[in-house]
Amino acid sequence: MDVKFIGDSPVIKNIKELTRVVANTALSVIIYGETGVGKEVIAKELHRLSDRRKRKFVKVNCAALPSELLESELFGYERGAFTGATRFKPGKFEIASDGVIFLDEIGDIPLPLQAKLLHVLQSGEFSRLGGKDVKVNTWVITATNHDLARALSEGKFREDLYYRLNIIKIDVPPLRERREDIPLLVNYYVKKYCSELDIPEDFALGSQMLDLFLQYDWPGNVRELSNTIKRLMVLGDRDEIVAQMFPQADSDFVEPDPAGKDAKSKPDLEEIMPLKLLRTKASEYIEKKVIAHALDVAGGNKVKAARILKISYKALFYKMKNLGLR
Ligand SMILES: Nc1ncnc2c1ncn2[C@@H]1O[C@H](COP(=O)(O)OP(=O)(O)O)[C@@H](O)[C@H]1O
Ligand SMILES: [Mg+2]
Repeated sequence: MDVKFIGDSPVIKNIKELTRVVANTALSVIIYGETGVGKEVIAKELHRLSDRRKRKFVKVNCAALPSELLESELFGYERGAFTGATRFKPGKFEIASDGVIFLDEIGDIPLPLQAKLLHVLQSGEFSRLGGKDVKVNTWVITATNHDLARALSEGKFREDLYYRLNIIKIDVPPLRERREDIPLLVNYYVKKYCSELDIPEDFALGSQMLDLFLQYDWPGNVRELSNTIKRLMVLGDRDEIVAQMFPQADSDFVEPDPAGKDAKSKPDLEEIMPLKLLRTKASEYIEKKVIAHALDVAGGNKVKAARILKISYKALFYKMKNLGLR
């Protein structure tokens, strides 16, 4: 099933509004944003909201193929168009007619193909390799994670095509600039993976983990967030995940040395861990110690240990899993 377009930060609300307005216009839309911000989610949302929803949504990654292959992929070929063309093959533009073609990484489309693309956008017509002219009614939605204006000034992107594609422009900011969407996304993905992966529905991320999620910069944006949640739910390796998100902070957290032998000299300001993270780490450390002690007293019996700790067996089970105890 397709993912839902989650978020209620002001910028995502604006994008939602814009997608509703644009959906039935078939005006060219270009979506800008870092990798993983949800460009494809938005393109699919445009398709879903439009009266083209029952027709195809076809995605082509323009960076993935060399020029000639990309051309035959987009525009198709006639039988005998070149050696090896033993039969007619329709291009993605034709397949997506009356529907949507989503051209991802449009900034990487080679110059000769840019001319052909411009022609389709202007006339709705193109010729297949090896001959025949075809008329299509394809809604073109594009996306890029680089600065097209720069490609333009470097002569790698045609100016006329640039203006033609930029009719409606959607800028999707990185997740770190709309952190208020993080709790909603967490909620959505925890529920989604609970049902997909058959994980008990009472799985909770915990407020400490959520705090860290809110502080982290998410260079891979929502893709990284959803993958991290999945990993946490499947592997439960909280410590490693935290260590990867905050390598600096983690290496500074050394268990207190009772003899005080390794006492460090004063750390730099930059080396000091954020207070919230320190609290998380400290409370995890204490929890681990307390649980280990209770298990010890209970002779390794988890039911007894849970009783000593005054928590349910299930809660103990999850805590131990999350803390990496077994
Ligand atoms: N607003 C959102 N709501 C729900 N899931 C999202 C959202 N934005 C991104 N995702 C998820 O993050 C991943 C990356 O999204 P995608 O649209 O492929 O990003 P991009 O095309 O910008 O690289 C996908 O799994 C997608 O479902
Ligand atoms: Mg993408």
